[in-house]
Amino acid sequence: MTIGVFDSGVGGLSVLKHLKQQLNNESFIYVADSANAPYGDKTEAFIQQRCLRISEFLSEQQVSAIVVACNTATAAAVKQIREALDIPVVAIEPALKPASLLTKTGKIGVLATMSTLQSKHYNDLLAQYTENVECYEQAAHGLVEQVEAGLLQDTRTLQLLQQYLQPMIKQGVDCIVLGCTHYPFLMNPIEGVVGKNVTVIETGAAIAERLKKILADTAGYTPSRGQSRDRYFSSSDTQHAKNMIALLMGLDVEVEMLPV
Ligand code: DGL
Repeated sequence: MTIGVFDSGVGGLSVLKHLKQQLNNESFIYVADSANAPYGDKTEAFIQQRCLRISEFLSEQQVSAIVVACNTATAAAVKQIREALDIPVVAIEPALKPASLLTKTGKIGVLATMSTLQSKHYNDLLAQYTENVECYEQAAHGLVEQVEAGLLQDTRTLQLLQQYLQPMIKQGVDCIVLGCTHYPFLMNPIEGVVGKNVTVIETGAAIAERLKKILADTAGYTPSRGQSRDRYFSSSDTQHAKNMIALLMGLDVEVEMLPV
C-alpha cells in the first residue's frame, strides 16, 4: 500500500517519521511544497488551490490514502480535498482536546501559524474543547522559515522561541500545543525555554494511529509484507530538500521535482 503525505514544506516530515514507525512495511510518497512555504501567510484561496493540485497529483500516483501533514492546509482545505477525492484523507489539527484534559493549571498555550489561528476550523475546535481552560495563542511568525532553512538552533530561532513562549509561561500554562508540523523539529530548544514542568504536545503519533484505524475500517488494512519504497518530491530546490531530509530524518534519499 502507498500513502501520500504532504505539507507546505519539510514540516510534515515530523509526521512522516511516526507514519513510517507505525506502518513500517508501507510505502510513502512525500510532497514538500517548499516553493510556496510558508502557507501560513497565504490566502485561503491560494492554500486550497495548492492543496487540491497536490492531492490530485498524489491520487494520480494511486495512493490508497492521503495524510494532510499540515495544520494550516487542514484548516483551509481539508473539506475541499475530501470532496474532490474518493480515498481516505487523514488531517492534522492542533491537540486542543488532549491539552485541555492534561492541564492542571487550567491554562494551555498554542503555537501555530496566523492562518491556522484565524481559521474557522481552529475556532470551532477551540469552542468545542477549551470551554473550561484558558488558552493563550501565539502566531509564531518566522519559525516555519527557520525550519525550512535548517536553522534549528541558531540565534534567531532561539530569540523567536523566547519571544513567543516566555509570555505563556509567565501566564502559568503547563501544556503547550505545537499546532504546526514544523515545530516538533524545534522540540529541544522549545523544551529548553519552557522547562521540565511544561508538557509540549505534538500530534504525529496520534495521526499515525488514526491512519491505521481509518485504513482498517475503510480498506480492510493488513500490513504489507514486501519491502517499502518511498518517494520524495519538492516544488523547490531538490538538493536542499535532500539535505533537509538527511538533517531532519537521518535518511539519504533522492528527491524529485514536483511536476505540479
Ligand atoms: N507545517 C505547516 C503547519 O502545520 C506549516 C504552515 C506554513 O507553511 O505556514 O501548519
